[in-house]
Amino acid sequence: MSTLSDRPENSVVGVPEPHESAALHVTGRALYTDDIATLRRDTLTAWPVQAPHAHAHIIALRTEPALVVPGVVRVLTAADVPGVNDGGIWNDEPLFPTEVMYFGQAVCWVLGETLEAARLGAAAVEVDYEVLPSLITVPEAIAAGSFQGAHRITRRGDVDAALATAPHVFTGEWEFSGQEHFYLETMASLAYYDEGGQMYVQAGTQHPSETQEIVAHVLGISSNAVTVQCVRMGGGFGGKEMQPHGLAAIAAIGATCTGRAVRLRLNRTQDLTMTGKRHGFHVAWTVGFDDNGRILGLKASLTADGGWSLDLSDPVLARALCHLDNAYWIPAIEAHGQVAKTNKTSQTAFRGFGGPQGIMVIEDILGRCAAPLGIDPALLRRRNFYAPGQTTPYGQPVRHAERMEAIWSQLLDKSEFAERSAQIEAFNAVNPHIKRGLAITPVKFGISFNVAAFNQAGALVLVYKDGSVLINHGGVEMGQGLHTKMIQVAATALGVPRASVRLAPTRTDKVPNTSATAASTGADLNGGAVKNACDQIRERMSVVAGGMLGANPTDVRFSQGKIHALGVHGQELTFADVAKVAYQQRVQLSAAGYYRTEGLHWDAEAWRGSPFKYFAYGAAAAEVEVDGFTGAYRTLRVDIVHDVGDSLSPIIDIGQIEGGFVQGAGWLTLEDLRWDTTDGPGRGRLLTQAASTYKLPSFSEMPEEFNVTLFEHAHEDGAIYGSKAVGEPPLMLAFSVREALRQAAARFGPAGRMTELASPATPEAVFWALTAAKQALATTAPGVDAPGAKRIPVLADS
Ligand code: MTE
Ligand code: HPA
Ligand code: MOS
Repeated sequence: MSTLSDRPENSVVGVPEPHESAALHVTGRALYTDDIATLRRDTLTAWPVQAPHAHAHIIALRTEPALVVPGVVRVLTAADVPGVNDGGIWNDEPLFPTEVMYFGQAVCWVLGETLEAARLGAAAVEVDYEVLPSLITVPEAIAAGSFQGAHRITRRGDVDAALATAPHVFTGEWEFSGQEHFYLETMASLAYYDEGGQMYVQAGTQHPSETQEIVAHVLGISSNAVTVQCVRMGGGFGGKEMQPHGLAAIAAIGATCTGRAVRLRLNRTQDLTMTGKRHGFHVAWTVGFDDNGRILGLKASLTADGGWSLDLSDPVLARALCHLDNAYWIPAIEAHGQVAKTNKTSQTAFRGFGGPQGIMVIEDILGRCAAPLGIDPALLRRRNFYAPGQTTPYGQPVRHAERMEAIWSQLLDKSEFAERSAQIEAFNAVNPHIKRGLAITPVKFGISFNVAAFNQAGALVLVYKDGSVLINHGGVEMGQGLHTKMIQVAATALGVPRASVRLAPTRTDKVPNTSATAASTGADLNGGAVKNACDQIRERMSVVAGGMLGANPTDVRFSQGKIHALGVHGQELTFADVAKVAYQQRVQLSAAGYYRTEGLHWDAEAWRGSPFKYFAYGAAAAEVEVDGFTGAYRTLRVDIVHDVGDSLSPIIDIGQIEGGFVQGAGWLTLEDLRWDTTDGPGRGRLLTQAASTYKLPSFSEMPEEFNVTLFEHAHEDGAIYGSKAVGEPPLMLAFSVREALRQAAARFGPAGRMTELASPATPEAVFWALTAAKQALATTAPGVDAPGAKRIPVLADS
């Protein structure tokens, strides 16, 4: 065991702890950015003027009519930018554009004494546009050759030869949808100068250091003149990894121009129409299988819908290409990836960060091809699992590949898969108008930022003379429980009770140059840094305690706020006693901690290396029931076995698994982003701009029975206290629901038929899938399965 992963006795990590802000959340006392803004009395509100075209030149902008609206203080335009007029990191996101790139883009911002004044002021601004041709869909962009960022290729073996000789070859082309983050707290920031001229920004941002950098370059000042704080967010889900920066910069420009505090909080419609979403993809593929259903080769082309600017599309695409394999050995592969540039919001990070899109491709292929191959889908998946010793297409050894098999067989047991499959067969045989499906799908997800430099973190730990502890670290809290875990890590590392540790809000003036809290690495990276700081302090205190106990410092032990030494009996000190004496002896009781993930290497040009520290594994089995008249469905039962290593905080981890799963099920089965693709005046407008038209999962979509089990004996060597990241991987467990829907829809038709299913698999999409199945049945003899089709027993391989 490494010292990083070694867990001491009586550790506070591993104890089921409620979320550190749970009581504040449920009593409404938790402060979010806009709550903090309303605590100030001099605050102005910023409101955008949004363009009503997908693509247009701005011919004229008349702000004077706004200035006569009572309460309007100022209209911010490009002329007010002291530094660089760009809110992104690739210099392709003008904050005040001359060319509108998507429907709803902000062209200028109005500052008002009240929200209402700012809103009316924005309505009074006059803008003349020259409308330009626009590209809304990915096929339109492909046809026009409109791309941005790099073209990437992942390649292994001779795929053409593999496909030429494969006994079963299938091909497909389709598009699947993106997803709206729909965090409960919309984008918000508050900016003001303190009396020393320091720009201070409180923002809902997953990347405070980058918000700081961008605010600084927009204002034309250095980073040490800008402090960004994030107390917490009401959800980020990747949506606040990049896109808060420009909005914070608008507030900061407002504060610079007026000398007043400026708050900017998008309302829901603005957030939906202005900010980026999960990337939808267009994919084309050809796959070859042998007679046993083993994949021989896969050729694919993936085009991500990047929207109007590059944002994080490049690394998202990279992660998609690195997850095309999911849990499966693909001996020969050639996959091309590119990012389309369209006149839509700039699509961005979203839980899984391209991983779900890559996995979608292969899970859809297996789900489609199982029936025509005449192999049960569960069996087809299992037969293709990585075996220990195999490597991914980009050359990383699949360490712990055997865990996939172990999780799978545990889940088959726990979910009573075989018995229920038989029951479902019997149910389906006698129910012509209702069909059930039960599907099991795996997840393998790589943990680490795929940009190697981001895999580092810092922390600042302070021990006071009374033995109380205050920790700062570089990660932000967005509901995922990172702060809870960091408190548990510090308490464990210092050997104090959880109640002795408090956590201070994340601020760029406490820990500099931090990475986004993203890629599920928050606990791994910041946990490593917090532990490193605590270890330094504990070592110094060991010397002090050794002196007090007459023992060798290496024999001093810290546990639950008490300190003793091996071989010294009957003498026990408290952590506070030792802290006090350490102070008197002039021993430093604070430390800056640092951590970087070792062992990563990645060559993006060659597309080879080991970009991930480890893989997180999991599997889910979902049962659904589908109505043959409407396509409406219910999720009857879901069982999950998921690998979080040795959990740092089991309640938090189970919550992450449940939440991730439901969010994934939302993406795959309910949430239907629609854009106006007509040539009418609304071309490019987001049509689903409210919860009334964009269907989110709610209690009524929760599985009626939902069992989540953490995979046991899962210690991960080389990660903080033996744990694994949990934030994103469970989202991809939701493929089980989509595949169960496919299987249920297929049961309305003849066996052996390929069932295509749109994504999202809304009731409407399921209706069309089962209608096609019914039509296919009508063309075969009643009650007779398609020729050559066999229904193979489910567990033949186990
Ligand atoms: N859970 C909640 N409640 N809210 C969130 O915004 N974001 C997810 C995941 N779980 C999110 C969440 C995403 S996209 C990531 S990358 C991780 O949390 C980030 O946090 P971590 O690295 O601390 O796990
Ligand atoms: N996840 C999230 N954000 C990122 C990543 C990633 O893998 N790479 C770069 N930014
Ligand atoms: Mo998560 S998409 O990496 O913020």
